Amino acid sequence: MIEIKKGMNESEIDDYVNYVLEHMSLEEKIAQMSGNGLFMKVIEDKGFGKRAYDAAGSKKFNIPPFKFTDGPRGVIIPGSTCFPVSMARAASWDIDLEQRVGDVIGKEVRAHGGNLFGGVCINLLRHPAWGRAQETYGEDPFLLSEFGVALTRGVQKHNVMATAKHFAANSIENARFKVNVKMDERTLREVYLPHFKRCIEEGCATIMSAYNKIRGKYCGHNNYLLRDILKGDWNFKGFVHSDWMYGVKDTVGGVAGGLDVEMPRAKYFKVKKIKNALEAGKITEAMIDDAAGRVMRTILNYVTKEDPQNYENELIGCKEHYKVALETAEKGMVLLKNENEILPLNKNKISKLVVFGKYAKVKNTGDHGSSNVAVKKVITPLMGIKRYLGDSIEVVYDDGKDQKSVKNTAKEADVAIIVVGLNYKDEGEYIKEFRTGGDRDTLSLHDKDIELINTVSAENKNSIVVLIGGSAITMEEWKDQIPSILMAWYSGVEGGNALAKILFGDINPGGKLPFTIPKDPKHLPYFDKNADEIEYGYYHGYTLFDKNGYEPAFPFGFGLSYVTFSYSDLQVDVKNDKVIGTVDVKNTGKIAGDEVVQLYIGFEQSQIDRPLKLLKGFKRIPLKQNETKNVKIEVSRKNLAWYNPESKSWEIEKITYTLYMGGSSKNDELLSIKFEL
Ligand code: GLC
Repeated sequence: MIEIKKGMNESEIDDYVNYVLEHMSLEEKIAQMSGNGLFMKVIEDKGFGKRAYDAAGSKKFNIPPFKFTDGPRGVIIPGSTCFPVSMARAASWDIDLEQRVGDVIGKEVRAHGGNLFGGVCINLLRHPAWGRAQETYGEDPFLLSEFGVALTRGVQKHNVMATAKHFAANSIENARFKVNVKMDERTLREVYLPHFKRCIEEGCATIMSAYNKIRGKYCGHNNYLLRDILKGDWNFKGFVHSDWMYGVKDTVGGVAGGLDVEMPRAKYFKVKKIKNALEAGKITEAMIDDAAGRVMRTILNYVTKEDPQNYENELIGCKEHYKVALETAEKGMVLLKNENEILPLNKNKISKLVVFGKYAKVKNTGDHGSSNVAVKKVITPLMGIKRYLGDSIEVVYDDGKDQKSVKNTAKEADVAIIVVGLNYKDEGEYIKEFRTGGDRDTLSLHDKDIELINTVSAENKNSIVVLIGGSAITMEEWKDQIPSILMAWYSGVEGGNALAKILFGDINPGGKLPFTIPKDPKHLPYFDKNADEIEYGYYHGYTLFDKNGYEPAFPFGFGLSYVTFSYSDLQVDVKNDKVIGTVDVKNTGKIAGDEVVQLYIGFEQSQIDRPLKLLKGFKRIPLKQNETKNVKIEVSRKNLAWYNPESKSWEIEKITYTLYMGGSSKNDELLSIKFEL
């Protein structure tokens, strides 16, 4: 037998796995295809997610199990660093930062004894009512790709296998176990799958199949998705594991469909059931060898790599990691409105400040489902503001419940900060038994919050609304009477500190929306949280708004700063396999600030039905006061292709394209220039 050791190369691992497959019994192979008795552990631990759960592996053949833990808000095992939710991170548009988040997560997974991180959630936000919106990176496949890749890179650097999930088209929560998602081939390939493909190209080790059906077949049984596209077209070498509760429905469906591992335990992938299916000729031994081989090969590829460092316990939730959580919260907050330059607040001009709303004072880090990072202490908005100000200003708190007290407190204060929004009951993974999460019925705030905003703003013209949530919140009922609005998300353990620094101008906000906020929800695609069946169209988010000429309340890619930026001298260059856009961006304000420069490609002249424009590049750029930078963004030619379902291939049209660059997706604020391919 070959010895398993650090530094083995891929062909040595292949040889070993082939040797093992030759010498393993059928039962031993089948044992690679499921998790190892989760429930006893959950009972022992008095709760879920308190350790990494193992699956597969073989003592006899020296193959360690894979040890699964969840995310993406951080590692869910208690003590870990709780980051802002993925949507807040996407709003930073800073992929280097996301890679550093991945780096922290990778280290903490290892320090907890895990080796597989099930938290690269890259489902597309088709409709903002989706309950798990916060776990992903927004409505655009390119943005999802860049962030998914960055997190994967960071995590896998520490020899932790990453999982991209939920494969695929998982964008409705309440109906997740049953809904059949229909869509045409272009929609599948161009809108719902590109981000998964990018993560696979980047070497993402594993895939988790989704609960829902696509074109009538459960994703965990879907041979078109798993065998033809993932393992065939994309040449994926890792393994596919199922989502946990009802991800597999029957033995033959799963095995023949291309699912390699049933998680978290064998129900349909039990030795006896698989043997029966084999004997009945419904599956083949080659399928078992393929699944077991993939699992063992993937595990060995990671556990035999030299580690870049040691992973001591002290790393978990350490100061350095909290700093990354703070930076992420600072960079992700999005300033949506700032009339009369109410913000940043000048503490020398304020003597009394009031903070309203229950969410100013409670731990509110997001969903209470599988992404919940158990953390003892969180810096709430109120704590952050009080800590920041010390004794310099009187800070009053009012939970906002008593209208009379609200009026008086609002009147007496120089500034009113109203913290409102959502929590784990409003949105998140839907766990019926715990009455938590699910899709939202409305995109607006609760009536009580709107009433609070109305009462406060009638008494105090310096009112600022701080929104907490993981997705779009509509604001038409109240946004005109509020001068400043800040989207603060579920911003993790350090959120309150980040908020205070932004409110008082130590940090100049630079986040931008990873989705469109509509004025009227009717402008969004059809959504039914209880749907048995639904058709996903080619258009959603900004592509739908562009197509129909709807004006959003706040466009995709939008966010203000305490300074303004001007764009000039847009140029385009087509070289070999690249289209290169360059533009001068100037900070025209009095302090430093970050601008997220976005590049879109327009397809107006296309011979086929294509969006007005698509995001194809972005860069977050720091600019000092008065500084101008020439910003260059490259787009690889293959990123301009469309999927031709007839030829079953990606094709690049020979037409005149438009290259747009600017600070949001808003058409009349983008500079544009034509180029030909
Ligand atoms: C769930 C989720 C999935 C998670 C898994 C394990 O039901 O859908 O995201 O990774 O269970 O907790």
